[in-house]
Amino acid sequence: MNHAEMELLYRALCWEEGHSRRTQHILKVYALAKLLGEREGLSETERETLQAAAILHDIAIRFCKERYDGDACQANQKREAPRLVRLFLSEAGCDPTFAPAVIELVVHHHEYEGPRSRLLQLLMEADLLVNCFETTPDGAELEKIRAIFRTATGKTLFDLAFPAQQGGFPAEKAGK
Ligand SMILES: [Fe+2]
Repeated sequence: MNHAEMELLYRALCWEEGHSRRTQHILKVYALAKLLGEREGLSETERETLQAAAILHDIAIRFCKERYDGDACQANQKREAPRLVRLFLSEAGCDPTFAPAVIELVVHHHEYEGPRSRLLQLLMEADLLVNCFETTPDGAELEKIRAIFRTATGKTLFDLAFPAQQGGFPAEKAGK
């Protein structure tokens, strides 16, 4: 799906019409999801599914803002995302057999409670890392978010970015 994946990424960026935050968010979550998928040993099909979901995970935001008078709440996004995901995958030339798995990831990527598949875990970790970079949550929020992480790669990247959750860098502790 490599060519289709780049077509999908291009189409998702065009859909955002240059919106700075959402454009950069897509690129960052995509890159991190790709990194996590490769480092955590996903199969090629799993990686393609995860990467397509990373590209499309917030695809319903713009549509919902326009359709629901600015309200892109989770319920509205869940209502609109399946149709949009199917449309984007199809127009990018992606294999339609990927659609159900990609939709599943997109629709559930904010459900931090309860059991989740490995792919959903990786998408959540990529999205949460980027959200933390973008919104700089306070210490208590960071602690809650850190508890969601399961993979070695995700935990390492989180702890490097937010060392306060681990008691600070050794150099900082030593006052250097
Ligand atoms: Fe996101």
